[in-house]
Amino acid sequence: MDITGNKVVLRAIEEQDKEMFVDLIKDPQTAKVTKGYSQPVSYDRQIRWFRSKTDSVNGVHRIIADREDPHAGLGIIILSIVDQEARSARICLKLMRAFRQKGYGEDAVAALVSYAFQELKLNHIYSHILEYNQASRRLFEKCGFQQEAVQKSRVNEDGRSRNVYVYGISCPLRLSKNGNPSMASRIS
Ligand SMILES: CC(C)(COP(=O)(O)OP(=O)(O)OC[C@H]1O[C@@H](n2cnc3c(N)ncnc32)[C@H](O)[C@@H]1OP(=O)(O)O)[C@@H](O)C(=O)NCCC(=O)NCCS
Repeated sequence: MDITGNKVVLRAIEEQDKEMFVDLIKDPQTAKVTKGYSQPVSYDRQIRWFRSKTDSVNGVHRIIADREDPHAGLGIIILSIVDQEARSARICLKLMRAFRQKGYGEDAVAALVSYAFQELKLNHIYSHILEYNQASRRLFEKCGFQQEAVQKSRVNEDGRSRNVYVYGISCPLRLSKNGNPSMASRIS
């Protein structure tokens, strides 16, 4: 089932997404801010793995596309349920550079978070963000996430340690009045 936001649709991976998917994984600048792969990997294997996880008990793996032109993939978004008992999941997304700072990221996160709280009955969603990833920090703050923790010296790079910020959001439906009002209005 597609997940539809105001601006985006989050759909399953399709054949035409292969090039976008490979470019995204290969992009060294994106790999630097997400600590992903920048080295060659088996892309066919990655794509098969991503497709197999479109909707699984362990989460959701989707292509971010524009609602007006859903054929063209703009990026990927992943929700991994890390604790089934606590109903807690980790979220991560990557957009092609040409489609950044146009509101796609914010709408994709908001749509997936609403879906996760309403349909998957999750209680808590979080993201790990490297301290210098200003774009990601701002994006999650705009979506109602709050800084919950700082993990010291988790990532070492060029001999320097980098802090990792944990940003999280709890389901407003399962919270008292302290729930996030912007997300509550999206859900109701
Ligand atoms: C992080 C990322 C997904 C943001 O998506 P996006 O579509 O560009 O973000 P949006 O256009 O929805 O912007 C949301 C907010 O973040 C701000 N923002 C976006 N990029 C920014 C940047 N480079 N620097 C500062 N703020 C930025 C926007 O200005 C907006 O805030 P505002 O309305 O107050 O101005 C995108 O930059 C990306 O794919 N980065 C590489 C991968 C990554 O870092 N993923 C996150 C780790 S899981």
